[in-house]
Amino acid sequence: VKAVVTGAARGIGRAISHRLARDGYSVVMVDVSSGLADAALDVERSGSEPVPIQVDLTSPSGIDTVIEACDGRLDLLVNNAGITRDSRLVNMTDEAFDSVIEVNLGVAYRLSVAAVPVMAPAGAIVNIASRAYLGNFGQFNYSMSKGGVVGLTRAMALRLAPDVRVNAIAPGLIGTEMAMGIPEDIREKMVAAIPLARMGQPEEVAALVAFLGSGQASYLTGQVVVIGGGRSFT
Ligand SMILES: NC(=O)c1ccc[n+]([C@@H]2O[C@H](COP(=O)([O-])OP(=O)(O)OC[C@H]3O[C@@H](n4cnc5c(N)ncnc54)[C@H](O)[C@@H]3O)[C@@H](O)[C@H]2O)c1
Repeated sequence: VKAVVTGAARGIGRAISHRLARDGYSVVMVDVSSGLADAALDVERSGSEPVPIQVDLTSPSGIDTVIEACDGRLDLLVNNAGITRDSRLVNMTDEAFDSVIEVNLGVAYRLSVAAVPVMAPAGAIVNIASRAYLGNFGQFNYSMSKGGVVGLTRAMALRLAPDVRVNAIAPGLIGTEMAMGIPEDIREKMVAAIPLARMGQPEEVAALVAFLGSGQASYLTGQVVVIGGGRSFT
């Protein structure tokens, strides 16, 4: 079985790659960052042979390279690559708006469409959205992009049924470099609002990806699962 994980160089994507490799997938790890080589080596040490592909997924040739690496068969596509460019609405530049929509939504859309011809009949797509799709202060562009990912998930689930299942995961605050980019005082306030009283771990998101991608989730499609320690509304 074969999986593609985008944004695999660090954080949640790296943990997903590890988990899927352990579950027996041959994992195509995709990232624009040079940190990908190290992440792939790490997965290799745990006994599998990942295929690292260092490309910018906002370029058409980047998408083509990933699809070629699938050799005509893909069982699980994980659209995880994402960026933030936070600012208050009055300070939001067009460039910050466009880049976040392009990476978080445009890439997930284009890679999903390109993958359709190679998706295995009982395959699955898992899109990493965010709890921020419900709306976050200072994250207009990001919230919009993730709301778009939810729409993509639901439309694609209809398009690919009854063969391929498509679901989204909406993580709350997960302890990665991205989350550590949030100023400490704000991060502490965010943690204080989480019923389970801590940030989530990348491995906990990876476990949910593994479940949604597996036959155990065979009657689940078009859904958004919030993994946020109980904080799932505002
Ligand atoms: N960390 C959190 O609290 C949190 C919460 C909710 C949702 N998410 C989402 O989970 C996903 C992973 O987040 P993370 O915290 O691991 O982030 P991260 O910043 O640690 O990792 C994201 C990876 O995506 C890669 N990437 C970015 N643009 C790319 C491009 N154009 N082409 C190829 N690769 C590209 C980056 O190089 C990076 O390695 C993102 O979609 C993010 O929005 C994260």
